[in-house]
Amino acid sequence: MDVVVTSPPYNLGKQYNSYDDNKSDAEYLEWCGDWAFQISRVLKPGGSFFLNFGDASENPFFAFEVAMSMKQFFVLQNTIHWIKSISIDREAKSYGHFKPINSPRFLNDCHEYVFHFTPEGKTKLDRLAVGVPYADKTNIDRWAHTKGKDKRCRGNTWFIPYKTIHQRAKQRPHPATFPTELAVKCIRLHGQPNCTVLDPFLGIGHSGLAAKECGDLVSKFIGYDVDEEYLKVASEVLGCSYSAI
Ligand SMILES: C[S@@+](CC[C@H](N)C(=O)[O-])C[C@H]1O[C@@H](n2cnc3c(N)ncnc32)[C@H](O)[C@@H]1O
Repeated sequence: MDVVVTSPPYNLGKQYNSYDDNKSDAEYLEWCGDWAFQISRVLKPGGSFFLNFGDASENPFFAFEVAMSMKQFFVLQNTIHWIKSISIDREAKSYGHFKPINSPRFLNDCHEYVFHFTPEGKTKLDRLAVGVPYADKTNIDRWAHTKGKDKRCRGNTWFIPYKTIHQRAKQRPHPATFPTELAVKCIRLHGQPNCTVLDPFLGIGHSGLAAKECGDLVSKFIGYDVDEEYLKVASEVLGCSYSAI
């Protein structure tokens, strides 16, 4: 396997169709260790494992505990922040969507993590494949490393808003998805052609759509989910069949 891009249930008590998202923290972390081991078995030495994880404001160390449970198998090569919503004061504007938290203690939670794990911490990336143009174009000639190109590394904060939807049941029939664009960026950042891409927690198939969108970078995509309803939706949007194991 070249690339694993996935988002497991976060143990937040989400109402999944069949999966029970209410384990004790200890039980959940042990389970994470089990599937992380399976990923480590199949990931190539130069592979990338992108783990999207979001936590609850009242349990703020949990994402790090999950990341720590991966430490026995992987090196944490990058930590990416998926920004769902951002407000830019000088434009007096906000962009993107988030679920508001009504609390005198906590800020609205507008980000999640994407932990980029690799077997040895030495996986070469194509940073400019997800690069951005320079705001100050004089940088292009001033810095030799640009090689005359108007592209720079975008860094580890990725602003990717959810698409606006009006009817969840019809347009996004799943309680915890990531945008296709998040997985597209991960696959492009890994940047090798003819990759085999795996999502062990497929949901309704956004990582599969991302694999399709990445064209020649992906030669094979494999996805799993315990829920047949989600697999049905995924197979419809991806135009492929699925089998129950
Ligand atoms: C956070 S969701 C993934 C959503 C997906 N990224 C999307 O955008 O549609 C996690 C998924 O893991 C599935 N799941 C839970 N336990 C599983 C297991 N042991 N094996 C495979 N899938 C599982 C759930 O049914 C759920 O759809």
